[in-house]
This record gives sequence, structure tokens and C-alpha cells, in this order.
Amino acid sequence: MSEQVFSFVEEVNRRRSFAIISHPDAGKTTLTEKLLLYGGAIRLAGSVKSRRASKHAVSDWMEIEKQRGISVTSSVLQFNYGGHCINILDTPGHQDFSEDTYRTLMAADSAVMVIDCAKGVEDQTKKLFHVCKMRGIPIFTFVNKLDRAGKDPFELMEEIEKVLGIQSYPMNWPIGTDGNFKGVYNRKKKQIEVFGEGNHGQSVAKVISGDVSDEKLKGLLGDSLHDQLIEEIELLDMAGDDFDLEKILAGELTPVFFGSAMTNFGVQPFLEGFLNLTPPPAARNSNHGMIDPKTENFTGFVFKIQANMNPTHRDRIAFIRICSGKFEKGMQVNHVQENKKIRLSQPQQFLAQDRVVVETAYPGDIIGVHDPGIFKIGDSLCEDGSGVQYEGIPVFAPEHFTKIYAKNSLKRKQFLKGINQLSEEGSIQVFRRPHIGVEELIVGVVGALQFEVLEYRLKNEYGVDVVMEKLPYRYIRWVEVPEFDPDNFGVTMDTLIVEDEEERPVLLFQNEWSIERVKERNKDAVLRDISLRKA
Ligand code: G4P
Repeated sequence: MSEQVFSFVEEVNRRRSFAIISHPDAGKTTLTEKLLLYGGAIRLAGSVKSRRASKHAVSDWMEIEKQRGISVTSSVLQFNYGGHCINILDTPGHQDFSEDTYRTLMAADSAVMVIDCAKGVEDQTKKLFHVCKMRGIPIFTFVNKLDRAGKDPFELMEEIEKVLGIQSYPMNWPIGTDGNFKGVYNRKKKQIEVFGEGNHGQSVAKVISGDVSDEKLKGLLGDSLHDQLIEEIELLDMAGDDFDLEKILAGELTPVFFGSAMTNFGVQPFLEGFLNLTPPPAARNSNHGMIDPKTENFTGFVFKIQANMNPTHRDRIAFIRICSGKFEKGMQVNHVQENKKIRLSQPQQFLAQDRVVVETAYPGDIIGVHDPGIFKIGDSLCEDGSGVQYEGIPVFAPEHFTKIYAKNSLKRKQFLKGINQLSEEGSIQVFRRPHIGVEELIVGVVGALQFEVLEYRLKNEYGVDVVMEKLPYRYIRWVEVPEFDPDNFGVTMDTLIVEDEEERPVLLFQNEWSIERVKERNKDAVLRDISLRKA
């Protein structure tokens, strides 16, 4: 930790809070670890990655994670680098838990998108990219695994632009590809950075840097690589998009960095280039308009609730993104939605792999507080009585649906309690069929593995065995019409009309064709695939 004392405003200005997104296996975990290594938060690489063996670290709260070797939950890692205080909002590795990543993106001020140079833009990257785009946050690209054979860098740039529809600007350019990755050309400094011998990426890579015309560097690269680089620099300068900070900050242009997280090559230029550009916490929209992070009134919102991080106590942790003011341990705040005063007890932060109690925290920081069952995702907290409420957190479209009931009907009370709590944590979405007499619960999830988690947790935490009957629906649309009348709303035979937990009308579809038919038949209705939780 830095010894330096900063004023409140300096503390806000030096915060950089971001999430790393990628398709599984592109190298998100490796890059996260290397950022910690460069930040001095861990001494030798391998300590975070050992999590791959058991994939648990902070999140060893559930057997299923260990059994399946996947990281279900996410945490926040904080470290200092070059005067900045960096918060990496870690996200689950498995795509079936991507809803958790979507919500984490609501708390981030920017995103780093890791792309495997051999695979290019993959499916999960596309989905996560669209959530970033919806928020309008800056998106930085790290093209990874340059130490291996991959697509041509120009081809990759074109793919990013075409598939994702975002302009791109390479901040550095790789020298030597296909297993011959020697260094990068830094376009801003107009310098070549040649990597020295590494120790398999365990510690910081040695770099020799200098001007493009430097004879020694030319010698190190060899004539043919050097000539190729000069040609490519010219081509980039002539044909590429211009550097435009405003567009970067608006998420319309992505700065691209090339590197290899495994060997550390290109990690430092990325970290420095990224920190130069990525913004400090910005004002956020609320029912009182935009709230400046530097206002003194402490405010924040819950973006994630995680159960049973410690298997010996059944605790829940609510993760709060601080949006303004200074947080102090034990402070009393208003829980805006419940209109109640609460004390934020046992606040925790996550430094590298350890949980520590926080004394103070600032806008941009994430704190975890013990949740005795009072928080819901999207709840706002506010120090004074002004009742600042942040915009709701979107509910993302589930893609799998099941009917669910308790095997033993005497356990219905525990069953409903469990379902309700899991829904408050955001790990499932619950729907009802309002007009059929008997109450029938339908649960929707984004990834099918979430059903396993649901079944497991209901049994282990609530003592309830359940029966699930999978339903054939794959698409959901929230219906917005002035007056919804289920009897006169034109739907296809295979469409199911249900209600969400806030009693809003929802349609479940088996195919996209039906969605189009329903749109045609109900011209005055708007069908949305993302809905806002009521604040
Ligand atoms: P993820 O979190 O995005 O899912 O990816 P992760 O970092 O776990 O990396 C996935 C695999 O890719 C790992 O290999 C990792 O070592 C490898 N990898 C990451 N960065 C690079 C890189 O820059 N170059 C190369 N060549 N490989 C890279 P694995 O075999 O699945 O695991 P491990 O045994 O190496 O840990």
C-alpha cells in the first residue's frame, strides 16, 4: 500500500475501476494475474493461476465449483500502480454465469476485452461487448497469445471493426508474429520495445527500447522484421482510424494493444497505455440527476450479492459500488429502497487474494458488506436523507427455462424462501402464470449450469429436493404496452405468456420466427430483451 497521503479529490481522481471480459480461454485469468504482478500485488506469477487447478481462490463457497473446476463467482482485486489505485472487477470464467459478468460491468468504469489472436472475436466476447456498448463505457482491447501462431494483425483489426462495429486504433503494433514475437512498436512514443529473455512469464519481462532507427535494435530484430515493421507503420498511419480520445471515452473507438500475457510480453506497455487513457470514476445518473463522485454525500449501489463465500457461516455478501463521497467503516447509511437506516458492518475489500477489512474507501471502489438478507440487486445507499437512487440494474434475457416445484409439498415454505433469496441474488429469474389457478413457478437462467447450482443450493442450504421440468423456450421479451390484456394480445400457439416478479407481462418464445409474428400482430407493443429492475 502506498504511504502517501491523498486528499479526497485526489483519491477519487486516482481510481481506475475496470472489468476484464473475454471468451473463455482467451487469457483473462492470465492477464489479470500479470497485472497484479506488474502492480507488485503478487511477487511471482502462478499464485492466481493456481486457481485454475481448483479454480476457487476467493470463491470456494460451493462444492459444484470444485467438482466442475469452474469459477462461478467473481471478486474484486485492488492494487496500486504508478500513483493509480486500480480496482479489477473480476468476473466468472464460465460463460454459463455471464449474467454475473453483465452486472459487474454495471459497476465498472471501463472494460478490457481480451481476444485470442488465433481465434479472433468469439461468441462470448460479442455478448459481453454489447453490454459494454449499452453502457457507453470505454473499451480497450488486448490481443493475446502473440507468442503463438495467430491471425494476421491487420485481419484482426478488421474483424474487430466488422464483427463488433467499433472503430479501432492500435496503440502498439506487434513485431514478429507466428511464434516469433520479438517486441512491439509504441505508436505514441514512436519507439520500438524489444523483449529480453523471459523466465516463462514468472516475473516482469525485461525490455530494451529505443528509436525506430536505433541500429542496435535494428540488429536485434534483423533486417527483414525491421523492414516489415517500417512498412506496416506507414500503412497504419495512412489507412487506419485516427486516434480520438473523445471517441475512446464514449466507447466508439477501441485502443488495441498486442501482447502475450503468458510471457509478459506487451503487458507493461498495455498497462501504462491503458492507465493513461482509462477514465477515473464518472458522474452517474440517479433520480436526482447526475451525481458527481466528488460530492461529499456517500452514495453507492448494490450490483451483486454472493452467498456463502465462507462455507462455515451461511453469510451473504452484498457488493457495493461506491459512487460518491467517502466510505468509513461502521458508517450509518440510508437504505433508500427500504427507507431504513443501516450500519455497514464488516466492510471488506479484496486485495490480491486476501479479504481485508476496509477502514475507508472512495468512489470507484467496491466494498463487500455482510448482508443479513436486506439487500437486493440495484438497491441504493445514501449517507444523507436525500434519497439518491441510482438507475436500476438491467435484467438480462434468460435463455433456459424450467418449471420447478418441491418434491415434498410440505417443504413448500422453505422452497419459496430459497427461490426468493436466489432470485434476490440475481442467480435466477422467477416467472408465474397468473391466470391458470394453481400457482406454477417457472425459473429462467442465462446459462444452463445455473440450474445445477439452483438444485444444489436448494438442497444444501434449504433442505429442499426439487423437481424440474425443462421447458422448450429460448427467448424472452418484456412487453411494453399502455394496457396489457393477455386475452386480446395476439401470440402464436407456442408462445407462453407469464409475469415476472414485478408483475410485468413477459412472453416466452421457442424461436425467433414467433417473435416476429407477435411484433406484426401487436404494432403498438414494444418487445424488449433487457428490462430494468425497478429501483
Ligand atoms: P480465461 O481466464 O480467459 O479462461 O483464460 P486463462 O487465462 O485461464 O488462459 C487459458 C489458457 O491459455 C491457459 O492454458 C493459459 O496458460 C493460456 N494462455 C494465456 N495467455 C497466453 C499467452 O499469452 N500465450 C499462450 N501461448 N497461452 C496463453 P491452459 O493450458 O488451459 O492452462 P495452463 O495449464 O497453461 O494454466
